[in-house]
Amino acid sequence: MKLSVIGTGYVGLVAAAVFADYGNDVLCADIDAGKIDSIKAGKLPIFEPGLEPLVEHNIQAGRLRFTTSNAEAAVHGDVIFLAVGTPTAADGSADLSYLYQAASEIGRHITRPTIIVDKSTVPVGTAERIARIVGEQTRVPFTVVSNPEFLKEGAAVDDFMHPDRVIVGTDDPHAREVLHRLYQPFCRTSDRILFMDARSAELTKYACNAYLAARISFMNDMANLADALGADVELVRRGMGSDPRIGNKFLYPGVGYGGSCFPKDIRALLTTAREFGHSLEIVASAERINEAQKLVIVRKLRQRLGSDLAGKTFTVWGLSFKPNTDDVREAPALKIVRTLVGDGARLRLHDPEAGKNFIANLSPHVAASCTLAADPYDAAEGAHALILATEWREYRSPDFERLKRIMAGTHLFDGRNQWDRQHVEALGFEYAGIGR
Ligand code: UDX
Repeated sequence: MKLSVIGTGYVGLVAAAVFADYGNDVLCADIDAGKIDSIKAGKLPIFEPGLEPLVEHNIQAGRLRFTTSNAEAAVHGDVIFLAVGTPTAADGSADLSYLYQAASEIGRHITRPTIIVDKSTVPVGTAERIARIVGEQTRVPFTVVSNPEFLKEGAAVDDFMHPDRVIVGTDDPHAREVLHRLYQPFCRTSDRILFMDARSAELTKYACNAYLAARISFMNDMANLADALGADVELVRRGMGSDPRIGNKFLYPGVGYGGSCFPKDIRALLTTAREFGHSLEIVASAERINEAQKLVIVRKLRQRLGSDLAGKTFTVWGLSFKPNTDDVREAPALKIVRTLVGDGARLRLHDPEAGKNFIANLSPHVAASCTLAADPYDAAEGAHALILATEWREYRSPDFERLKRIMAGTHLFDGRNQWDRQHVEALGFEYAGIGR
C-alpha cells in the first residue's frame, strides 16, 4: 500500500519504519528540515531500541523515504497518517495547531480519494474537526479515521509490531476494510482490531492513559501509607497482583510517572471534562498525588539529613522518565534535581542515555550546580547520598562495596525499590525505599 506519515516523532517514525518493513511504500514528512536531514544521514532524533537498523534497512530497500513537504506526502499516500505533536497549551488543553495545519495542507494537495488517519492523541471530536478543515480545501472524496497509538517508549517497535489491540474509529466501510488489511499482518487474531466510532476511539486512548496513571498514583498512595504503618508495599503489591481481576502489571510504586503521554493527556482530559461540566475526581487526584510523589525522595532526604542541604553533594542515577529512553519530558529527576539545587546542594548525575537532554532542560543557574559523569561510580564519588530515580538495568545490582568506599555519606534513596535492604544495611548503608 502507498502510505504517508506526517510527523517523525516516536509514533510517526516507528509507524513509518514498521509499515515499510511489512512491504508498504512509505513517505514520511516532517516540517523540521534538520530532523529530516539527520534521519537521512542515518542519525535518528530519538533513542529507541531497534529503530535505527529498521529505518536504515527500509531506506536501503527503497520502501521508506523522507521529505520536508507535506504537499508531497498528501499526493503520495492512499492512506495518510497524522502523527504530529499535540503539546499542552497554556490552559492545559491539547494544542492542535500542528495537526490542523497539516490537515489543511493535506486538503489543499490530495488528488484522489484518501483515507486520513489520526494517530496523535487528541480531544474527543477532533476527527470531525479535521474533516471540516480538510473539506474546506478540497472536493476530492476523503474520510478521517481515529486510530490512537498505544506504544510505549523503549519498547515502541515491538509494541507496534505486536499490539494488544488496534483501535480503529470510523463508520466508513471502505476505510475499515483498508485498515483491516493494513493491520492484519501485526495481529495474530482479527479480533484484536476493534472497530468503533471516532469519538469512542478518541476517548479510549485517554481512558487507558488516565486509568494507568491512576493505578500508579494509587500504589504511590499505598506506599506512603505503608511507610507510616511500617508495612512493606512490595509485599502488598505482590498480594494484590496475584488477584487476576487486578493483574500484576503497572502496580510499581516509585517517584511518580513522567513522559510525554501520561501528564499531558491527563491535563487534556481534565480540561475536556471541565468544558463539558464534569469533574473527573479520580483522575484529578491521580495527577495531584503524582506531582507530590516526585518529591517523595526529597522529603525523605530532608528528614534524614536535615533541612539545611547547603554544601552537600548528592548523586542521582537515572535521569530519563523511565529506562531505555533518552526522553526526559516530565521526568521526576528534573523536579528532584531542581529542588535540591534550590536547597543549596551540588548534584552529580549519571544516565546511560539521557544525560545531555537532561542538562539541556535545566536553567543555566541549576545546571551550574550539576556535574554530569560518564560513569555511575564517578558520579557517586564524594556523595553524601545516592538517589536512584530511574531503574535502568545497569543500576540494579551495583558494586555496593565500591560505593561504600567512594561515597562521603552512607545514605541510599532507592526511588524504584530495586535494592535489597538487608544486603545494603549489612554493608553499613542507611536505606530508604518507597513504602518499605
Ligand atoms: C505510556 C502508555 O503506556 C502508552 O500506552 C501510551 O501510548 C503512552 O504513554 P510511556 O509514556 O512510553 O507509555 O511509558 P510507560 O512505560 O507506560 O511509563 C509511564 C510512566 O509510568 C513512567 O514514568 C514509569 O516510570 C511510570 N510507571 C510505570 C510507574 O511509576 N509504575 C508502574 O508500575 C509503571
